[in-house]
Amino acid sequence: NCRVLVLISGNGSNLQAIIDGCDDHLDAEVIGVISNKPDAYGLIRAHHNEIDTSCVIVRKDESRPEYDARLKLAIDRYQPDLIVLAGFMRILSDEFVQGFEGKMINIHPSLLPKYTGLNTHQRAIDAKDKEHGASVHFVTPELDAGPVILQAKVPVYAEDTLDTLAERVHQQEHAIYPMVVKWFGQNRLKMADGCAYLDDIRLAEAGYA
Ligand code: GAR
Repeated sequence: NCRVLVLISGNGSNLQAIIDGCDDHLDAEVIGVISNKPDAYGLIRAHHNEIDTSCVIVRKDESRPEYDARLKLAIDRYQPDLIVLAGFMRILSDEFVQGFEGKMINIHPSLLPKYTGLNTHQRAIDAKDKEHGASVHFVTPELDAGPVILQAKVPVYAEDTLDTLAERVHQQEHAIYPMVVKWFGQNRLKMADGCAYLDDIRLAEAGYA
């Protein structure tokens, strides 16, 4: 059974989808949740599901390497096979990321490589994009630039607001993230030479879009 550790900062709806997905199959199990925010609603979701939680809160005047070293200690305590970033809203130092190469995945609310960083839904609306979506990717040191594993596309309508579009993307996130966790748990997913592989087949830049 693949030991999955989920890192969050907020609502944790993706965490919930992964918990529910793991209940449906026995390939992976969420064994812990770490938050950098003590009031993250996802911590309550974890408690409801009897999953162990930890908070690693940024200290005043703490440097990024200092924080990341404490985060690594908290992670190592769980001995995870896979680290899942699910709305974990902190940039991680290169050294930290390199320590978990091929073992850490992230979900990002855009069709990467479009719109790395923040405010992705508003940027898609402002650009009058016809389609938008979400991407699951392996985490590499460069922000939101690791190899894409799976994408989901949604249409953007002229009458869309930030909320309607965000909601449409969220629903797709909840469908694709548990699927990727399952693949990893089944040992089917690998990162090698900067590319993602499923069953030894290289996933192109657009993943399984
Ligand atoms: C998700 O939409 C995820 O794609 C995004 O945060 C949201 C978390 O929602 N992640 C990022 O923007 C990462 N840069 P959730 O807490 O309900 O899962």
